[in-house]
This record gives sequence, C-alpha cells and structure tokens, in this order.
Amino acid sequence: MSSKFSKIGFILAVAGSAVGLGNAWKFPTLVGQSGGSAFILLYIILTLGVGFVIFLAELSIGKISEKDPVNAYKKLALKHKKAWSFVGFTMIGSILIVSFYTLVIGWVVKYAYLSIIGQLPSDLKSSALDFNFLISHDFLSQFICFSLVFFIVFYTVSKGIKNGIERLNVWMMPSLFILLILMLIYAMTKDGFVMALKFLFVPDFHKINISNTLEALGLAFFSLSLGVGTIITYSASLPDRTNFITSTLNIIFINLLVGLLMGLVVFTFIFEFGYDPNQEGPGFVFVSLATLFQNLGLTGHIFGTAFFVSLVFAGITSAVSMIEPSAFYLINTFKMSRKKALFFIGTLVYILGVLCILSSLDSTQFKILGMSFFELLDSFSSKIIMPLGGILVAIFVGFVIKKETLKILFKPYMKGIFFEIWYLFVRFISPLAVVAVLITKLVGFV
Ligand code: PHE
Repeated sequence: MSSKFSKIGFILAVAGSAVGLGNAWKFPTLVGQSGGSAFILLYIILTLGVGFVIFLAELSIGKISEKDPVNAYKKLALKHKKAWSFVGFTMIGSILIVSFYTLVIGWVVKYAYLSIIGQLPSDLKSSALDFNFLISHDFLSQFICFSLVFFIVFYTVSKGIKNGIERLNVWMMPSLFILLILMLIYAMTKDGFVMALKFLFVPDFHKINISNTLEALGLAFFSLSLGVGTIITYSASLPDRTNFITSTLNIIFINLLVGLLMGLVVFTFIFEFGYDPNQEGPGFVFVSLATLFQNLGLTGHIFGTAFFVSLVFAGITSAVSMIEPSAFYLINTFKMSRKKALFFIGTLVYILGVLCILSSLDSTQFKILGMSFFELLDSFSSKIIMPLGGILVAIFVGFVIKKETLKILFKPYMKGIFFEIWYLFVRFISPLAVVAVLITKLVGFV
C-alpha cells in the first residue's frame, strides 16, 4: 500500500470498521430475539476468547506481509502457496456483505430524511406498515438511498487509505461518540432505562442454547470485521512501532461499548413505550425507534435525526473497510489503477445490491433455500464465511507462520506467559471452539 495510517488513524479506521450497523442494528435485534442478558454474556465471552485472539492473528498476517489477503497468504506460506492463497479469497465475503449492508444504510438514510422533515410514523402499527411498505413495495426510495450511499462509499475508497479512509474516520467516529453520549444521557432520565439495564445485564442462564451461541459467534465475527480480510488489509498499513496490543484492546473495548450503549438507548425507548423487545426481522430498530422519536416532539426530532445520522456514519466507515481488501488485491495483482479496480468491484456490488432490493419486493420476490437473497447473503457471510475464514486464519498463524516470527513481532508489546496463552488459544482453543459451535449447529439441522 502506498501510504500508511497514522497511529490514531489506524485505531479510528479499525474501530470505524468494527463499529457499524452490526452494533446498532444487528446487536439489538439479536439481543431482543435471543433473550437479552444471556446472549450478551455469550457475546462478550466469544468476543474475548475467540474474537480478540483471531483479531491479533489477522493483524499479524497483515503486518508481517504488508499485502492484501490473497497475496499475504501466498507470501507467508512456506509450502502450498497456491492453496493458501485461495483462503485469501474469503475476502469475497466482505463484497457479499457490503451489497446488503449498503442497502441497510440506505434505509437509515431514508429514516434520517423522514426525521429531518418530521414525517416519521407516530404509532407502532403504522410504523411497521411503513417499514414493510418500504421493503416490499418501494423500489424507488430504496434504489435512490442505496445509490447515494454507494457513491459516498466508493468515492471515499477511491481517495485511498490516508486521504480517503483515514480522513473520513477521523471526523465521523468522534461525531458518532458525541451523539451517542448525548442520547445516553437523555435515555438515563427515562423510566425505561432501569428496565433496559436489567434486560441487558442481569443474566438468565436458561436462555443459553446452541442456536444463540452460533448467533453470538456470528455477531462477534461480524462486529469485529473478522474472517473476510478487512483486518489483514488495514494491518498492512499499520504504522511501525505501534503498540498493536493496546490498539486492539482499545478497538475491542470501543466496539463492545458502542454495542452496549446502543443497546441501552434502543431498549430504554422500547421499554419506555411498552414495546415487545422480542420482535422479528430487520426492521426492529427502525420500526420501534421511529415511532418513539415521532412521539417525543421537538426533542424526538433532534434525537431522531442525531440517531439516524450517527448510524449512517457508523455504517459508512464499515462499508468502506469491506471494499478495501478486494481493491487492494486487484491493484497489487493486476497492477490496476485504484479507479479501475473500484469500477469492477462497484459493478458487482451494485448488481448484488439491486438484487437484494428486488428479492424483497412483493412484485419481484424470489427466494433461495427458503430465504430472500438479502437474508441469504447475510446468513452465508456471517454464519459460514466469517467463522470459516476465522478458523483458517487461526490455523495459518498457529501452524504455518513460524513461532519465532510471531515472537519477534509481538515482543515489544506482549511477551512471556501472555504471548504463550494467546499462542495456545490461536492454535487450539479458539478454532476448536468455532468448529464445535458450527458442528453442533449443523448436527442440530440434520
Ligand atoms: N463490523 C461491521 C459492523 O459491525 C461490519 C463489517 C463486517 C465490517 C465485515 C467489515 C467487514 O457493522
């Protein structure tokens, strides 16, 4: 990569990649559906025991090779270079994700707009109807919002790591935090806040089962942007002499914190209005929060706009990070210009994104394996490609890269017993935990 991040630029960019709709849209939806605190407990355990470990493994691959995922495996593998380089193609997962993810950001843009003009729905029933109308009938709105987000994201990536991605993150991420803190302070003044605290933090162990565990694992991967080449790619631009252990801990902490704060805000309002936290479907956050904001008068107007705008920021910084791995690969391998690489990737994403819109419209609906194309991309990437990509990263770092090489990389920041524990986790515990969850779930299917 031609230019490297600055130290703070790296943390913000990776945090920007991690913090996204995963925290604000998937997290509350899954927490609501999967029993609140029990799910959060699983999510925290898996984030630390598996996510953190694999994050450092991906970072090592990126930092040592300074290449895109495919070329990184090729460069670092001592034998079977070709076979390993195929593993790098798990980065295609991030292209699948960005296709439906851009659409979801598009929905948020639509809600931000409705909030600005004060046209959010005022009761839960009409809110649900409005959302269903948007996804099942309103091709035009979805297409316009999707296209708008698409152009912002691709324009940013076209400017490169330093002038595009770093610059965007440096102002979007702090703005997101400020907005979130303001919303939290407001939420704390509400009665629903205590109920939300209880729902999120008092564990109920009865609700832990294998299905929830797979969901929590998928979310831990999704939320830390693991298994699809993003962390490898960003770490290829990690500036030298950066304490990447503290950076990683910061990133993981920020990511957990934003998820939990978002959850607190969302559930405070859900309980405040007596809604059911256990609602199905991708519209959960939109349907309930939109009604809430509309009912709060001027305050709701301001907070609604702030909330949806901050979600757009969080989403864009993540979407950008999904495109960079493939762009970097095309640039490295075929000596293409960045613009040309983005043209190819953009065409693919645009087609997949429009297919996502069409697959949920009543008039053009189509299902594959009983799921809409949108749901298929989502499930396939976060429940299959990401965990699989993560296992392969762990095996590669644990068994292919020499321990000495890793020791040299880690030495200034993590040594002795801590390094050995991480090494043990990366070789055995984390990949086996992922395999165990996947197999148990698979057997459950049969
Ligand atoms: N981590 C992002 C989120 O939580 C999603 C993401 C997945 C980003 C894969 C990059 C790669 O929204």
